[in-house]
Amino acid sequence: MKIGITYNLKDEITPLSVLSREHNEEYDNITTIDAMCRVLKKNGFEAVKLGAKVDIFDRLRKEKVDFVFNVAEGYYGRNRESIIPSILEMMSISYSGSDPLTLGLTLDKIMAKKIFQFAKIPSPRYGIVRRLEDADIINNSLSYPMIVKPAWEGSSKGIYNSSRVNDKNELGRNMKLLLKKYPNQPILAEEYIKGREITVGVLGNGSPKVLGLMEILNKKDPREDFFYSLEVKRDWEKLVDYQLPPDIPQTLDIEIRRLATHAFKEFGCRDIARIDFRLSEYNEPYILEINPLPGLSPQYGDLVIMAQKQGISYEGLILMILNSAFSRCGIERIEKTKVEIV
Ligand SMILES: Nc1ncnc2c1ncn2[C@@H]1O[C@H](COP(=O)(O)OP(=O)(O)OP(=O)(O)O)[C@@H](O)[C@H]1O
Ligand SMILES: [Mg+2]
Repeated sequence: MKIGITYNLKDEITPLSVLSREHNEEYDNITTIDAMCRVLKKNGFEAVKLGAKVDIFDRLRKEKVDFVFNVAEGYYGRNRESIIPSILEMMSISYSGSDPLTLGLTLDKIMAKKIFQFAKIPSPRYGIVRRLEDADIINNSLSYPMIVKPAWEGSSKGIYNSSRVNDKNELGRNMKLLLKKYPNQPILAEEYIKGREITVGVLGNGSPKVLGLMEILNKKDPREDFFYSLEVKRDWEKLVDYQLPPDIPQTLDIEIRRLATHAFKEFGCRDIARIDFRLSEYNEPYILEINPLPGLSPQYGDLVIMAQKQGISYEGLILMILNSAFSRCGIERIEKTKVEIV
């Protein structure tokens, strides 16, 4: 069986990379794609690196792959993650992960908020900023501190150490910066949830299973308030500790699992997602967002770290994602007892 991998690379020249390095932040290093290829080959598949450039139609026609492992983030706009899956659907090629609609709904944090509200999944109160003048409405309707972020980015693009704001001046300054840096999308102002951060891996379909809950901790001083900004993600080895399982009451653990699987199902996620939560000072969980294309770097992917902390190898994780997709697509599963979740 021939499996193609669709992806974007950090060192690719893309329509926006010429403006700033930050635009390629979500993309993969070739070492990640190589690691995925090694897993596929070791398990008897032929692996083809397809990329996700504008020649993808020709690449797919030429290579005649049987299945695609999709980790492509796309180039720009809130539909960017949906484009490769849409092309694959048009060409009737089965692929791993969520479909174009789920990828679009989760990438656009404003659309996601509406579904969280509808599904009664608590998420921080928010306001939408389209022009600088909206600062007044936000200032009068939400409580400080707030965090200001672009509405449809990932990998903490546009979320800096300075993005938590305490007053109207700071709010205005941050909004101005983001409206300039990300001019083609709204900005989201959210009430800042001061407390702990937990990310949750969810795998499967139909009755998805929680892979684990992992706390993101401030390595320097775990008691000091902390958030996962772009600067922190870039310097994760020095600044971040990961704890699995987090030291939380059992009732809260159960509630976070319930909310994570509920969100996964409500958005129609497939095969894999990493879902981010913050806990308030009173241990109330708030969902921040759903990542149906979680980073799979063998070194620093949060989901990979989460798997490894419970004895699941990189190979095991990749095969679990594949097996979920294979079951869904009617392809025979890869049988290896070690990759089954207990
Ligand atoms: N309302 C909030 N309260 C507290 N912290 C927040 C809030 N929103 C975002 N953060 C912090 O900023 C980080 C990045 O935010 P978010 O997950 O929304 O962005 P992202 O770019 O989509 O991230 P990812 O890399 O997971 O795709 C969070 O992990 C969290 O630490
Ligand atoms: Mg996040």
